[in-house]
Amino acid sequence: MSGLHDVSVARTVLVGVTGGIAIYKSVELVRGLVKDGLRPLVVTTEAAQRFVMPLTFAAVSQAPVLDDQSAWQGSGGWFQHIEAARAASVMVVAPATANTLAKMATGIADNLLTATYLAFRGPVIVAPTMNWAMHQHDATQHNLRLLADRGVEVLPTEQGELACGEEGSGRMASPETIRLAVRRALAASARGPLAGKRVVVTSGGTRERIDAVRFIGNRSSGKMGRALADEAYLRGATVTLVTTQPPTGAAYDVVSVESAAEMAAAVGDAVRSADVLVMAAAVADFRPAVDERGKIERGERETLTLELVRTVDILASTARPGLYRVGFAAEAGPRLDRARAKKAAKGIDLLVFNDILAEGVGIGSDENEITMLTAEGEVHVPRTSKAACAHAVADQIEKGLAG
Ligand code: CTP
Repeated sequence: MSGLHDVSVARTVLVGVTGGIAIYKSVELVRGLVKDGLRPLVVTTEAAQRFVMPLTFAAVSQAPVLDDQSAWQGSGGWFQHIEAARAASVMVVAPATANTLAKMATGIADNLLTATYLAFRGPVIVAPTMNWAMHQHDATQHNLRLLADRGVEVLPTEQGELACGEEGSGRMASPETIRLAVRRALAASARGPLAGKRVVVTSGGTRERIDAVRFIGNRSSGKMGRALADEAYLRGATVTLVTTQPPTGAAYDVVSVESAAEMAAAVGDAVRSADVLVMAAAVADFRPAVDERGKIERGERETLTLELVRTVDILASTARPGLYRVGFAAEAGPRLDRARAKKAAKGIDLLVFNDILAEGVGIGSDENEITMLTAEGEVHVPRTSKAACAHAVADQIEKGLAG
């Protein structure tokens, strides 16, 4: 098993691959991990090799693939499972079939992958995939609960069309979601103030119903909020994203809402046990006074007047001791004065200001330029990716929580 000791344990990820049709996504996952600067070490079961040849994984991981053959045929020595377990900092099983999950839950170690799992001491992530009926079966659900209770991170399956042609929940999480979970597990060793905290993030623009087909909305894409939710998750927080733009296959809880009233109710529920609230959503300030059940007809009208009434100010209404609140102020122009006034009026801990008229940033864009108003002063972040902005905001939140 020479070679395993040469690689850096801190950056090595054991990737257990089992025999599920979602295995084609594992090839992309392994490529992605390499792109993230990590060293994937692939361990496959025999069933996995009926779907994808080991050579494919060896090529994308740039390392030999470990399997039952290598375990017994001398190249790996007698203790390949122990050596493999010692060589990595995190283990991910993707796809994780019902069969392998059952073995992991009961401690059966009849192949290299499950034996390695038993010998491994670090964080383990599983990405289940199977037919919806198999997924819902009491046996599978029991096994998943057992694993979760033991600290295994069980990634949610996605809803949609399954390989068997049926519809339901059982699709494997996307390679991006799994990569994020791996990065989180690796980062969790450096635990900051957000680790273990409950964080509620809102994102997207609300839609206020005019009638059965129309609404008042705005152009918010939800990207900044998503980046913030991802960043909090990466830092080990338990995240709930309340959003009008639900992402598919997030690694954390997503509550899908439409209107300001729905968002207010969902946030009200979620913040009860939360430590941090980040209101990145573009909440409508007004909604139509009447929600017409049918469709307003044009008829002979030349004009149409809608009466609008104020919506609830979610941020202002969630103030309570022990809840660190972050607001956003998207202003038309360099109106830091307005942002400062908003921070004071809403009594919040941190306000993130951005100028929506600035070139190439803000609504819908992948980039942003922000100024953070904190209790201590103002911090400017020049134009950069929304992910980098989220990083800077999370740093400020951590400073606030620690201080
Ligand atoms: N916000 C909220 N509930 C609302 C409106 C806004 O919680 N009904 C939150 C936003 O999510 C944001 C912050 O309050 O974090 C500031 O929102 P913004 O629209 O910039 O400010 P307003 O308070 O609506 O003031 P104005 O429209 O006059 O700029």
